[in-house]
Amino acid sequence: MSRKTGIRDIHKRYRENQKITALTAYDAAMAKIADDCDVDILLVGDSLGMTVLGYENTLPVTLEQSLHHTAAVARGTQKAMVIGDMPFLTYQISPEQALRNSGRYLQEAGAAGVKLEGGEAIAPTIGRLVGAGIPVLGHIGILPQSVLAQGGYRVQGRDPETAKQLLADAKAVEQAGAFAIVLEGIPRQLSREITESLDIPTIGIGAGPDCDGQIQVVHDLLGMFDDFTPRHARRYAELGELIRQALRQYCQEVRDQQFPGPEQTFE
Ligand code: KIV
Repeated sequence: MSRKTGIRDIHKRYRENQKITALTAYDAAMAKIADDCDVDILLVGDSLGMTVLGYENTLPVTLEQSLHHTAAVARGTQKAMVIGDMPFLTYQISPEQALRNSGRYLQEAGAAGVKLEGGEAIAPTIGRLVGAGIPVLGHIGILPQSVLAQGGYRVQGRDPETAKQLLADAKAVEQAGAFAIVLEGIPRQLSREITESLDIPTIGIGAGPDCDGQIQVVHDLLGMFDDFTPRHARRYAELGELIRQALRQYCQEVRDQQFPGPEQTFE
């Protein structure tokens, strides 16, 4: 029987200087494929809002939607560590609110931990969750839930003051007990400095190659959207085009009465 990846496995890879691999997933089918490829962490990101639910940003995603998709990913996964990404306003109101809601990811959705956005300001909440036995993945830099406050998805930490704040944020998240931290949209030099100053793994997205691991939105890597690819993503496939070709052919064959054929027909 295969065993699911946990904090100890992630920290072992970190101590052995092996890069940690992480991807988003939102349903059981994709989770199963990614799991077959030995990804270490599957994050049910609140990017769910854009990739699957058709929203403009992550802000409308609800706790129930996130739990629903996290449970699907957990059902499709045998090995990877499944992390639920707590949506906007499901943990910022109070540590008690955060504890109650984060517990649902473990109890109801089968997740192995949760992710929260924020640095010093959210550290006491992280401490509360960790104290209750809930593994927490931190997240600093570009904070998609603060897209309005940050004025868009802009690289963070380019000036000395914000760079200093990000270092303090990373330290606070580590001291609060997070097992790892996502660095999103941070210049290479600063993310290297943060990585070197921490004793927990950094997992970068748009934060350069010196992080201890990398995370990407699976739809970006697979070329599902042709209108937009973020600068930090590489398109490893053109699935959007492939799917379009396949579905056009299906429609054509139905119209031409070539589908279903004898193989697909019961006599
Ligand atoms: O919501 C998300 O997908 C994320 C990452 C890509 C880190 O937060």
